Amino acid sequence: MTEFAARVEQVSISGIREVFEAAGEDAINLGIGQPDFPTPEHARRGAIEAIEAERTDAYTSNKGTRSLREAIAAKYDRDYGLEIDPAEVIATSGGSEALHLALEAHVDPGEEVIFPDPGFVSYDALTHIAGGTPKPVGLRDDLTLDPATVEAAITDETAAFVVNSPANPTGAVQSEEDMREFARIADEHDVLCLSDEVYERIVFEGEHRSPLEFAESDNVVVVSACSKTYSMTGWRLGWVLGSNRRIERMLRVHQYAQACASAPAQYAAEAALTGPQEPVREMVSAFEERRDLVVDGLEDAGLEVPTPSGAFYVMPKVPEGWCDEVLERDVIVVPGDAFGANGEGYARLSYATGTAELKEALEIIDDATRAVR
Ligand SMILES: Cc1ncc(COP(=O)(O)O)c(C=O)c1O
Repeated sequence: MTEFAARVEQVSISGIREVFEAAGEDAINLGIGQPDFPTPEHARRGAIEAIEAERTDAYTSNKGTRSLREAIAAKYDRDYGLEIDPAEVIATSGGSEALHLALEAHVDPGEEVIFPDPGFVSYDALTHIAGGTPKPVGLRDDLTLDPATVEAAITDETAAFVVNSPANPTGAVQSEEDMREFARIADEHDVLCLSDEVYERIVFEGEHRSPLEFAESDNVVVVSACSKTYSMTGWRLGWVLGSNRRIERMLRVHQYAQACASAPAQYAAEAALTGPQEPVREMVSAFEERRDLVVDGLEDAGLEVPTPSGAFYVMPKVPEGWCDEVLERDVIVVPGDAFGANGEGYARLSYATGTAELKEALEIIDDATRAVR
C-alpha cells in the first residue's frame, strides 16, 4: 500500500489555525497576519489594464516578466543602493514559494537549517519538506536573533540559516551591526544566509538593512514580497534574489512546481513597485500609532512587552493560562509556542486591526490578565 512520505508526515497544519477554529464568530481577531488596508488603487489598476489588454492570458517567462523583474531590481537600487541584475530574480507565488525554492535548492536530506525560535512557522515545515533537519535557536531578551547564537549552532551539516527582520512573530528588527555579522558568518563559514525580508518596509525605528548589502560572497539569498508592504496577501506575489548559479537551481524547482507566478499578479506588483509609495507610508504610520496603543495597553495590564520596532506584531510575556482566559473572552491571540518551543510563556498579538477594536480588545485583555493573576 502506498504510504505517505515521511517528510510530509513530520509537518502539521499551523497551530494558528487551531486558535481561529476555537474562537466564536464575533471574536476580535488579533491573530491575523495580514494588513487590514486595501491594496493600493494603482496596483489593482495595473492588473485590470493588463487583463483588458489581453496581456495576462498566457504563461510569462518562468522567472516572471522582464518589466516586473526590472521594477524589483530598481527597488533594491532605490532602497539599498544595490545593483541587482533582473536575471537574478524569480517572481514567485508569494514569499512562501520563494522560501520553499530557496530551501529545496540548497538543503540535502539530513542537512541542518538554523532558524529563530520563536519564528515564522514555515521555516520548520519547509525544512522538513526539503528533507532537512530543523535547528531552532533561541532569541535575546529583546527578541532579536544574536549572530553569536547562530554561529555557535553551525556544524558541518549546516546548509543554511534563516534571518527574518522585521520578524514574525516578534516584531523585532535586527540592527545593522547584526546584519553585518550575519553576512560575515555566511562568508566565513560558507553557509547560506536566507534573509526573509517580507516586512522590510514596515519599520518604525531605525531602518531595515539587509545582509545582502554586506556579504562578500554570494552566500546571501533574499526573499521578499508585495504581500505585507502593499497589503497584497491575496495576490500571491513575491520574489527571490540570488546569484546566477543559485537562481538557476531555484528556477529548476519553480519551473516544475509553478511554471510562473500568476500573470495578473505580476502586473499588479509591477504597478505597486513603480507607482506612488504614499499608501505604504500611510499604512506604516497607522501601524506605528497602533503599536504604541497596544504596547501601552499591555503594559498597563501589567505585562512585560519587548517593544517591537517593525512588522505588526507584539509578543508580550504572559502568565500561565493567559491565552485561554483571553480566548474565552472572544479575543483571538496566538500562543507563543505555535512559533516554536521557546515561544512558551509568550503570546503573539497582531495589530492589523482597527483602533476601536484594539481598544476594546485591550480592555478585555486587562480583565483576563487580572483573572489569571
Ligand atoms: C516572516 C514571513 N515570511 C514569509 C511570509 C509569507 O508571505 P506571503 O504571503 O508573501 O507568502 C510570511 C507571512 O505571514 C511571514 O510572516
